[in-house]
Amino acid sequence: MSTRVTSRPLAGSLGAEITGVDLSSVDDETFAQIHSAFLEHHVLVFRGQDLVPEQLIAYGERFGTLQVHPIIPSIEGYPPVICIPNLGKKRTLTEIWHSDVTFASTPPLGSILYALEVPECGGDTLFANQHLAYERLSPGLKSILGGLEATHSGKALASSITGDPQDTWKLQGTRHPVVRTHPDSGRKALYVNPAFTRGFADMTGEESAPLLKYLYARATTPDLTMRHSWRKGDVVMWDNRSVMHFAVHDHGDAPRDMHRVTIDGDTPS
Ligand code: SIN
Repeated sequence: MSTRVTSRPLAGSLGAEITGVDLSSVDDETFAQIHSAFLEHHVLVFRGQDLVPEQLIAYGERFGTLQVHPIIPSIEGYPPVICIPNLGKKRTLTEIWHSDVTFASTPPLGSILYALEVPECGGDTLFANQHLAYERLSPGLKSILGGLEATHSGKALASSITGDPQDTWKLQGTRHPVVRTHPDSGRKALYVNPAFTRGFADMTGEESAPLLKYLYARATTPDLTMRHSWRKGDVVMWDNRSVMHFAVHDHGDAPRDMHRVTIDGDTPS
C-alpha cells in the first residue's frame, strides 16, 4: 500500500482497518488498494466517514452493480440503500449468524454498512472467516461436504417484514453448494448459515440438523472471529463469499441506525 492508505489487521483470522481514505471520493489507485485489502482481509473497517446516500452508493458501485434488496424495503429515493434500525431484541433480523441474502440464486458479493447513529455501548457486529472454518475440517468431512448442496430460504425474513405468504413462497428452496470456491482467490469456504439454510438438498430437516449444527459450531469458534465496536461514521464492508456475520443485540432500546448497500455477486460454485 502507498504511504497514504494504510491497512492494519484487527484480528488473527480476518479484518483490517484502513486509514487515509475518504470514501466520499475514491480515486482508481486508492480503489485498487482497497480492493486488494478486501480480498486479503475479508472485512474492512473505515472510521470517521461522512457519507450521504449518493456517496455510499457511488462507493459501493466501485465493486459492482448494487442489489435492490428482495425483501427489505429501500430508503425513499435510493433503491439500493436499506436502513437497518434497532427493531428491539424480539424483532431483530440480524442477531443470528448469516451471510447476506443466500436465498437468492446469485447472492451478494459483499455488503457495506455505514453507521449513522450508534448506542453508547453494545450493538457490536461479529464476523467469522469461513475459509478457515472449511480448511480446519478433516479430509473425510471435506470430501462428504464437497458433494452436497443445501437449500436456502428467505421465508423467515420475508414473513417478519412483509407478512405476505406470496413473498415467502417465492423465496424458498434455492440450492447452493455447501462448500463454495471464491471466484477471486480460488479458496474454498463453508457456505451454510443458520439464518437462511433450511437443510441439505434432497434430505429431510431431521437428517440435516445434526451435521449443520456441528458445522455452525465449527464455523463460529471465537478464534475465527473479529468483533467490531461501532462509532458513528464507521463504514464496515465484508465479503459474503467468505464471511458470516452476527449483530449482537445488547443495547436495549438505544438507537442504532445503519445504512447498507449490497453488491451483486455470482452463482456460487
Ligand atoms: C447485517 O446483517 O447486514 C447488519 C449487521 C449489523 O447491523 O451489524
